Amino acid sequence: MADEVVKRVRTRHFQRAKENGIRIVGLTSYDQLTAGIFDEAGIDFLLVGDSAGNTVLGYDTTVPVTTDELIPLARAVAASVRRAFVVADMPFGSYETGADEALHTAFRFMKEAQAHAVKLEGGVRSAEQIRRIVSAGIPVMAHIGFTPQSEHGLGGHIIQGRGDQIDQLLADAHAVEDAGAFAVVLEMVPADAARRVTEELRIPTIGVGAGPHVDGQLLVWTDWAGFTKGRIPKFVKKYADLRGVLTDAVNEYRADVASGVYPGPEHSYED
Ligand code: KIV
Repeated sequence: MADEVVKRVRTRHFQRAKENGIRIVGLTSYDQLTAGIFDEAGIDFLLVGDSAGNTVLGYDTTVPVTTDELIPLARAVAASVRRAFVVADMPFGSYETGADEALHTAFRFMKEAQAHAVKLEGGVRSAEQIRRIVSAGIPVMAHIGFTPQSEHGLGGHIIQGRGDQIDQLLADAHAVEDAGAFAVVLEMVPADAARRVTEELRIPTIGVGAGPHVDGQLLVWTDWAGFTKGRIPKFVKKYADLRGVLTDAVNEYRADVASGVYPGPEHSYED
C-alpha cells in the first residue's frame, strides 16, 4: 500500500490493497513520538492496542485494561499522524454485554480519541456488536484466532485453528466479514489455515503470527524493536535492539554525572 499516493489511508485502500496484491503494513503505537516516526516511515495503519497493558501500563495481561486508560493513548497517536489509519482497540469488558455497550465504547474512541476505526476480539460471538458499530458509520477491524483478552478461557497463549479447529476459524472469519468488518486480524494461527481464510474472504486479513499468506502484517512495536524485556513470541522478527541501546545510554549518563563529565561547558549557559 506504501506505493500508492494517498493523503490519508482509508478503509477503501485496505480493500484495494487486497484486490491488487499489495501488502498492508501495521504496527502498534501508544504515544506521540513513535506514532510520528512510524507515520513518516509509511506504515499504513497504527493500532493503539490493549497490548498497552503489557507495554505501557504495567499489567501482566490485557485483561485489566480499561477504555479510560486507552483513550489518552489513542488520542496522542491520532493527533500525531498525517497518513496512517489509526485503529483503537476496544478493551475487555467494554463490548461483550451487547451491541449497545459496544457502540457506546466505539463512540468514545471516535469522539474523545478521534481514532479512525475500532478493533474488537471475537468472531461469531462478536458479530452482532460489529454489525451495530458499522451501521453507525464506524469502521471495525475484527480479531480472531488467538484473542489475548480470552487468554484465561483459552488456557494460555495457544495457537488456534489447528486441525479440526479450522472450521471454527472459518466460521468466525465469515461471521465478521458478513457483519461488515473492513479487515480481520488473524493472530497465532498456522500459515495454511491463514492462507485458507485469506483465499475465502473478500476483506483483507492482517496476520500477527499467521505466516506469509495473508494480506498484511501487524506487530507489537516494542517486540519488533527489541524493547521488550525477556521472551518474545517466535513469530516476531527483531529489527533493532532498542533495549540494548537505551541501557548503554543510561549507564553512560549515570557514569558521566557521577564522575562530573556531564554537564560540560558546552551544556552550560554563560552569564
Ligand atoms: O493489542 C494488540 O496489540 C493487539 C495485536 C497483538 C493484534 O491486539
